[in-house]
Amino acid sequence: MLLGITGGIAAYKSPLLLRRLQDAGAEVDVIATPAALEFVTPLTLATLSGRPVRSEIFNLRGDGGIAHTSYTAEADITVVAPASADFIGRLAGGLADQLLLTALMASHMPVVLAPSMNVEMWDSPLFQRNLALLRSLPRYRILEPGAGYLACRVEGKGRMPEPESIVKQVIAALTPQDLAGRRIVVTAGPTRERFDPVRFFSNRSTGLMGYALAEAAVQRGADVTLISGPTSLAAPEGLNLVRVESTTDLLAAVLAQTGSAHAIVMAAAPADYRPRAYSDEKLKKTADGLTLELAPNPDILRTLAEQRPHLFRIGFAAETQDFEKNAADKAVRKALDLIFVNDVGDRARGTGFEVDTNGGWLLDGAGVRVREIPVRPKRIVAHILLDELVRRLG
Ligand code: CTP
Repeated sequence: MLLGITGGIAAYKSPLLLRRLQDAGAEVDVIATPAALEFVTPLTLATLSGRPVRSEIFNLRGDGGIAHTSYTAEADITVVAPASADFIGRLAGGLADQLLLTALMASHMPVVLAPSMNVEMWDSPLFQRNLALLRSLPRYRILEPGAGYLACRVEGKGRMPEPESIVKQVIAALTPQDLAGRRIVVTAGPTRERFDPVRFFSNRSTGLMGYALAEAAVQRGADVTLISGPTSLAAPEGLNLVRVESTTDLLAAVLAQTGSAHAIVMAAAPADYRPRAYSDEKLKKTADGLTLELAPNPDILRTLAEQRPHLFRIGFAAETQDFEKNAADKAVRKALDLIFVNDVGDRARGTGFEVDTNGGWLLDGAGVRVREIPVRPKRIVAHILLDELVRRLG
């Protein structure tokens, strides 16, 4: 993608935005206007992007390529942050007297603009006219500036949105809305089974995979309910979050939320057992040790197979051996439509608990391999799984 930086004090946040875009998986080329380079140095931008920073329209490229067409040929999207009042005026006026303007005029990719300026400039009728013109063109997506304390020491509208918020909107602009109109329930995290007021048992699930799936489904336009066991993860935006503790709670929440859903993604790791008895008082330590008797918990996916036969059901299998065979048995036993299996053994590389990556095999309801999924960040694996869901929901 292309990051355009224009001349405004908010350019001090642009290097951080560049980093956040890279964290989200983007390869970023930077074009900074000469005015932008009064606020942030080419050295900073080139060091972070790992590529030369372009600014001058009349510099020939070393390989003889034409600057304004070759820099944009490979980009999928441009973000201009900050977009100054002057830049927006020139863009709306069809001017092309600087490299960033020529690059945009010579291409068709979507452009996200993050205007940032003094509140009086923001309110000026001329600026508002220019902004309205760009808003009327489908190619441009204009981010709302924040209100607050501005560099000119007045309160008002005109702050550049925070880098994290810009990244989210860039992803939304690039992601096909192929789950729009679908209601998807995602479960995530472990469950806890209490046996006295201070103690419980649980498992190593962190919820990372389920949260990544829920976020990816939101990005693709789905109406998402995330049912989460106890985790330390921040609640993603744009979805309905239901918190549960035990497997019994999880089953009740799943039944309550799937009445009109199209699909469920069971990434949670519900405890298979619960203590047969609960002590209202804290159990005292004894020299003989402690024996806990466990009762089986209901199997949520099997219950859904009976009570929600039309719901598209995706299960997960965390295994330590015979991956595809164990998963195929589970898919049939639980009457699933798809199952994803990964290695959680002690020697697993990048696919176990508490890591940001995952990988494994995706099988259909008959246990036949659909595809192997290489080890990738969990958000990428989430989109690969949703690609298959979209294909099968038709
Ligand atoms: N699952 C469920 N209800 C349970 C336990 C698990 O619906 N009580 C779901 C999980 O969310 C997951 C799938 O079933 O999508 C497989 O979970 P797993 O624990 O591997 O299956 P089990 O049936 O418990 O088999 P195992 O003997 O391997 O533990």
